[in-house]
Amino acid sequence: MKHSLNLTLSVLLALALALPAAFAIDVPTGDFVQLVEFCEGCHGKDGNSQTPDVPIIAGYSYEGFFNTMDVFRLGDRIAIEFHRPGEPETVMNEIAKQLSAQLVRDLADYYSRRPFVAPRQDVNAELARRGEIIHNRLCEKCHNKKGAHPVNDAAILAGQWTPYLRRQFDNFLSGKRFVPRTMLRRIKELPKEDIEALLSFYASVGMQR
Ligand code: HEC
Ligand code: HEC
Repeated sequence: MKHSLNLTLSVLLALALALPAAFAIDVPTGDFVQLVEFCEGCHGKDGNSQTPDVPIIAGYSYEGFFNTMDVFRLGDRIAIEFHRPGEPETVMNEIAKQLSAQLVRDLADYYSRRPFVAPRQDVNAELARRGEIIHNRLCEKCHNKKGAHPVNDAAILAGQWTPYLRRQFDNFLSGKRFVPRTMLRRIKELPKEDIEALLSFYASVGMQR
């Protein structure tokens, strides 16, 4: 079921009250500037989110960005619902479904050109040092340059919000989010302390960038 994008504001507001969140989203699909403003209402200026639950999307590779949106569109990755003040809950899956392939290409181009700016986060230096050793052994092969290189579809980890990354680990381990087999093998056996060490390491590299 799809709703018309030309509904008036009052009808939309009525819908927002009456229907589940998935039907209440009004994603701008015409004007690119409005679309970017819509994304940045959650993902922050230039995609550098100020909200620990919402990932930074600046500086990703074009391919990685495009593929992620496609995976959301197909429902192969199920995003959390997220609440913007004064608005109904929204999920990335519904947003991605409403965008044309051309708009997603434009967004991928736009955000791959914004610099990734790491937020300040609390870091336990000792844990971070342990995390670096684990990273070099198990993760550097795909997440190059200490997790800071946006190679193709492997995401930027260095400086990404810790609460967001922690949730992704939970999703990978519980099977909620697809994970490349080689990566799953490496994270499956990790004790919780090692995952926390990796998270501290990525937060610390972010702040050195
Ligand atoms: C209502 C808030 C909200 C809006 C609006 C929003 N997003 Fe998101 N976005 C999120 C949340 C929350 C996540 C994390 C989902 C998860 O945990 O899996 C996310 C995840 C993403 C990711 C995946 C990042 C990664 O590291 O894997 C991309 C890419 C993305 N959004 C792009 C966009 C674009 C482009 C737009 C505008 C068309 C947009 N988002 C609009 C909340 C939002
Ligand atoms: C074989 C290559 C490979 C290895 C090895 C690997 N990863 Fe990944 N990782 C990927 C790919 C590809 C993705 C993107 C997955 C997707 O969304 O389809 C990813 C995504 C992630 C994400 C999600 C990032 C986001 O923004 O949502 C985290 C966290 C992560 N990896 C952590 C690790 C850690 C920690 C290790 C080492 C223990 C590791 N990976 C080893 C390939 C790898």
